[in-house]
Amino acid sequence: MIFGKKNIVGLDIGSKNIKAVQLKESKTGYQLERLGIAPLEPELIVDGSVLDSSRVVGAIKGLISSTDIKTKDVTLSVSGHSSVIIKRVSLTQMSEDELGESIKFEAEQYIPFDIEDVNLDFQILGPSGKENMMDVLIVAVKKEKINEYVTVVKDAGLNPVIVDVDAFALENMYELNYETKEDENVALVNIGAGMINMNILKGGSSVFTRDSAVGGNLHTEALQKEFTISYANAEKLKLEGSKEGISPEDMAAAITSASEDIISEISRSFDYFRDTTNYENINEIIISGGVALTAGFVSLLSERAGINVRVAEPFKSIRVPDTFDKEYLKKVEPIIAVAVGLALRRVGDR
Ligand SMILES: Nc1ncnc2c1ncn2[C@@H]1O[C@H](COP(=O)(O)OP(=O)(O)OP(=O)(O)O)[C@@H](O)[C@H]1O
Ligand SMILES: [Mg+2]
Repeated sequence: MIFGKKNIVGLDIGSKNIKAVQLKESKTGYQLERLGIAPLEPELIVDGSVLDSSRVVGAIKGLISSTDIKTKDVTLSVSGHSSVIIKRVSLTQMSEDELGESIKFEAEQYIPFDIEDVNLDFQILGPSGKENMMDVLIVAVKKEKINEYVTVVKDAGLNPVIVDVDAFALENMYELNYETKEDENVALVNIGAGMINMNILKGGSSVFTRDSAVGGNLHTEALQKEFTISYANAEKLKLEGSKEGISPEDMAAAITSASEDIISEISRSFDYFRDTTNYENINEIIISGGVALTAGFVSLLSERAGINVRVAEPFKSIRVPDTFDKEYLKKVEPIIAVAVGLALRRVGDR
């Protein structure tokens, strides 16, 4: 490919929904080509581990075919604190090539896993405050986790070309669609069914990332307990919003109580960020993931955190042809944010 503009499909394999997005890049910007979401049954992916790969493969195949995606090249992502470590560290200044040679040695002390068990990548961010030192972002992902997801994607007949991390995909989605303000800290918070991915940007550059193992499953479990119903029925009730014989007040109370638990987890991360950065302020939260659609969650988060919350608009700067149902897109926007970030990657990207 002479121009390196080959299109890649962004494939976000979540535990609740698999999402695929394909964009077309032109001189005037990006255009949406393909978009699809396929729900997964519960228990196929748990805590970021693929437990039933053949059914996940089946779901990916179904999604690719129903979305009419012809391109085989995909970017996929992994996340979760037990398999992905992202660290911003200060190292002696050296060239990119030099660091490439010594990264294993340099990274070893910052990575809580055996260095032989991880794939390492890095990005030199620039000079740090101290003389002869530079800031570097180190990313370590367990090989086992990469293999697990790469295998599923290959078995679905696709060609995985880039393995990204959810937190960085969010950052790419943000960069395309939002103006970064030099003196502001923005928290990108993606809340799915079983995971929170957080990436705090300072003047547009990542300074803090954290994944936590809680999400919208807490809402479903709260409804399950409150009304003694099956998990599947609780999930259905949550998505439909009401049901005969179910008290709306009791339902709202159960949802709010689970939301409080999710928000406590977010607040703990914010506190940690503030403690380790000289009490930096967080100016805004951009929320994505399915939990952004859960009744009352966004306003409760804003109230508890005391921070303005905006729901992510991944298509703000992407042209959407009239063939797409705009109303539907508006509804699923937060769910598709990570996949849009993945679709922005290009063959040849590291
Ligand atoms: N319209 C909606 N109303 C309420 N909750 C919703 C709605 N849509 C999705 N959710 C909830 O959002 C979650 C799914 O979001 P998302 O697709 O972002 O998760 P995921 O990427 O599959 O999961 P994870 O990355 O955590 O494994 C589920 O808990 C689901 O119940
Ligand atoms: Mg997700």
